[in-house]
Amino acid sequence: MKTLIKNIKSLLQVEETPRAKVCGADMAHINHIENAYLIVEDDKIAAFGPMAELKEQCFDKEVDATGRMVLPSFCDSHTHLVYAGSREIEYIDKIRGLSYDEIAKRGGGILNSAKRVQEASEEQLYDDAMARLEQIIRFGTGAVEIKSGYGMTPEAELKMLRVIRRLRETSPLTIKSTLLGAHGIPMEYRGCQEKFVDLVIGRMIPQAADEGLADFIDVFCDAGFFTVEDTERMLEAGAKYGMRPKIHANEMACSGGIQCAVKYNALSCDHLEYTGDAEIECLKGSCTMPTVLPGAAFFLNMEHAPVRKMMEAGLPVAMASDYNPGSSPSGNMQLVLSFACVNYRMLPEEAINATTINSGYAMDVSDILGSIAVGKKANFYLTTEIPTYEYLPYAYGENKVYKAFLNGKEM
Ligand code: NIG
Ligand code: FE
Repeated sequence: MKTLIKNIKSLLQVEETPRAKVCGADMAHINHIENAYLIVEDDKIAAFGPMAELKEQCFDKEVDATGRMVLPSFCDSHTHLVYAGSREIEYIDKIRGLSYDEIAKRGGGILNSAKRVQEASEEQLYDDAMARLEQIIRFGTGAVEIKSGYGMTPEAELKMLRVIRRLRETSPLTIKSTLLGAHGIPMEYRGCQEKFVDLVIGRMIPQAADEGLADFIDVFCDAGFFTVEDTERMLEAGAKYGMRPKIHANEMACSGGIQCAVKYNALSCDHLEYTGDAEIECLKGSCTMPTVLPGAAFFLNMEHAPVRKMMEAGLPVAMASDYNPGSSPSGNMQLVLSFACVNYRMLPEEAINATTINSGYAMDVSDILGSIAVGKKANFYLTTEIPTYEYLPYAYGENKVYKAFLNGKEM
């Protein structure tokens, strides 16, 4: 099957020589071709260039993109989109002044979602998550990482991971799976949380590995949650099974989480509201992608991670949605673009790099996704008729995706 997308007003984020990630000052640049064509063969990008250079050939299908731009699909490298029920009542508690921490201490927050996930059937979790996947496809996402973490018992964590496996088998999205056994501390382990860490190490990690259910391992390494020592124990246990770390770090405090992520060659460390000079220094030259979650910072009205400082230090920055019922009940990556520009003072080009190629790196797919390059997976979207690409973050709240293509197929 050979498809031609022709008369593209602007084909964005094209790469002749694909890069794994984009760092520092380079983030302010994206390559684009005006009045372009794109050829898709089966599920891959086969060729692209200016219309004037398109050679005569036969196609099975032609799409006229006059007035529209084409961008690579978003890679959403951090979500918790398998969950049961919503938590808008806590949202009201927050409006009334309770902190995230206070809600968590009262057994709300993550524990509230855990109770509901434990009670839900695999079927229900799958159906609800599939509806969320269909929604994010319409907003332009082409790859998504999904974490467990609302199970909190070996049985419920495994149930969540099996749901993620089924989603991966049945959804056109590229999906990566993360075991987040240590997301919160169950009530019965308060005061002896090392015993819960033992359970993660003794049961959750080996069982998930045994069934091949997790690509990555995550830990909420932060003040009030898991310590650096707990985290190191779990990362070492995961490493024995080839699970690469992706760490929740420095959302509550300078917790040592970033240093821990770098020490264990984590693919990413995520949140990063509390990032000082020492953390930035530590990330320099590492293979760990600093990943910021602007939706959670917006929704919880938190400090903003020092993204400009990170880029000025030459670091790459990725951004993801954190789609979850507690701190970010939206998987809309177009909103992430807008937050990136307004709240973190990123340029539209920097925001696009953060949500495509760099977030692709943060979920280990930047070799096959995250840019328009020959041989990469044909996951991209046609925009509505927009005047400029800067309009993407500017017109917040409006869906600028006209048509999404995943694996070369129109959705
Ligand atoms: O990434 N920070 C930790 N975990 C989630 C929140 C989960 C929840 O509140 O349910 C996050 O924001
Ligand atoms: Fe998260």
